[in-house]
Amino acid sequence: MSTSKLAILGGIPVRDTKLNPWPKWPVWDQHEADALLQVLHSGIWSYNGPFETEFNHRFSEYIGCKHTISCVNGTVTLQLILEALGIGWGDEVIVPGLTWQATAAAVIDVNATPVLVDVLESNWCIDPQQIEAAITPRTRAIIPVHLYGSFANMDRILELARKHQLFVIEDCAHKHGGEWNGQKAGSIGIAGSFSFQLSKILTSGEGGAITTNDHQLAEKLDALRNCGRRPEHSLNDQADKGAGQYEDEGNFIQSGNYRITEFQAAILLEGLQRLPSQNEKRDKNGIYLNKLLSELNGIQPMYRDPKETKESYFNFAFRYEQEHFRDLPVSIFRKALEAELGVQVDSCYTPLNQCDLYQPHTKPSRHHLNDQYWEKINPENYSLPICEKIFHQNAICFHHKILMGDQSEMDLIATAIGKIYEQADVLSECEIE
Ligand SMILES: Cc1ncc(COP(=O)(O)O)c(C=O)c1O
Repeated sequence: MSTSKLAILGGIPVRDTKLNPWPKWPVWDQHEADALLQVLHSGIWSYNGPFETEFNHRFSEYIGCKHTISCVNGTVTLQLILEALGIGWGDEVIVPGLTWQATAAAVIDVNATPVLVDVLESNWCIDPQQIEAAITPRTRAIIPVHLYGSFANMDRILELARKHQLFVIEDCAHKHGGEWNGQKAGSIGIAGSFSFQLSKILTSGEGGAITTNDHQLAEKLDALRNCGRRPEHSLNDQADKGAGQYEDEGNFIQSGNYRITEFQAAILLEGLQRLPSQNEKRDKNGIYLNKLLSELNGIQPMYRDPKETKESYFNFAFRYEQEHFRDLPVSIFRKALEAELGVQVDSCYTPLNQCDLYQPHTKPSRHHLNDQYWEKINPENYSLPICEKIFHQNAICFHHKILMGDQSEMDLIATAIGKIYEQADVLSECEIE
C-alpha cells in the first residue's frame, strides 16, 4: 500500500479527480430532452396525462404490484398512506430512530404518535426485537425504512405485524428495485413509499410514488392526492376494474393537491429504463467493495442478509472503528478520506432524538392536543443508544454515484482507507479543524 503523504496534509491524493472525475448524478441524455419537449408541445402539463399514466403502469410492473399512485414527494406519500389507512389521533406508529425526519414527521402530520425505536448495529435498519418491545394496544403500524444499502428484516417484521394485526408501510425512499427474497421493496407490506428527489436513484428533481396491491386503498390514495376527487377511471390494474367503489365515504373526500406534473413523469419514464442496469452495476460494485472492506483493519462492512437477493443503494455505507485508527475521530477520518478521493464523505442521518429537523414541539397550534400527547411525541424521551453510537462514532456514507464507476475505482477506495490507516498516528498528532 502507498505510504505517500496524506492528501489532507498536502500530499498527492489517491484519486486524481481532474483526470478521472467521479460519475455524475443525475444521469440524463437526449431522451430526457426529447421527452420534455414533447410534453411542452403537447400543452398537457398537469396531472393524469399520458406520461403519468404510462409511468404508473411501468412502475407497477417493475415493482411487481397492482397500483402506483404518483405524488409530489416521498414525505407526502407516507402521510397519505397513514391517512388512507385511517391512522390518526391516539394511534401509535413504530418508526426507526435512524432515518430522514420525514418518516416520523409524516406520523406527526396525521396527529398520530411516532414511537422511535433503535436499529441494529449490523445494518442500521429497525431492530425487530425493539419493535416487539414497543408494541402497545394503541400500535397500528410499523414503518420499516430500507436504509441506504440495507434491508429491514421483512420476515421478522411481517411476523410481528401478523401477530399484532398491524399495518406494515415500507419506506422505500432508498430502495427502488431492491429485492427481499425475490420480492421488490414496496410490494411486501400493505404499501410502499418512494421518493424521487434529486439525490435518489430514480429522480425527477422532486417527486414520489405509492405502491400497493390493495385496490380500495389505491382508490382512496388517488383521491387524497387529488383534492379529494375520486378516480374517474379504474387505476392501473385493469383486472381489478370496478372493485372498491368508495364503500367508506361518498364520492368526494377532504384533501389537498399532492399531484405530479407531466414533465416529472416524462423524466421518470426515462430514468426507469436505466434503473435496472444501474442497480445491477451498483450491486456488483457494492459486493466487490464490501469484500475489499472486510479485509481492512478497523472497517466493518454492512451486514447483507442472504434474503437480500438484489440490493439497491441510495448511499454506500460502512462502519469505522476509531480504536483501530489510533483513536482518530470519525469526523477527521471522513475529511481525510474526502481529500484522498475527491468526493463527499458523509455521516448518516442524525438520530431522531437529536435531530435539528425533527421538532414536533414547534407546531403547538397544530398538534398540541393535550399534555399527554405532547409528552409522548417529545423526541428527547426516546433512548436510541445504537443510533447514537453509529452517528457519533461509526458512520461513513458515500452517495450511490461512487458505485457507478469501474471496479478499479472500488480498489482506489480501499487503497485510500489503507493509506489513512497506515498514517493514523501522524494524523492523530495534527490539528485538523
Ligand atoms: C428514508 C426517507 N424517507 C422519506 C424521505 C422523503 O422523501 P422526499 O424528500 O421526496 O420528501 C426521504 C428523503 O430523503 C428519506 O430518505
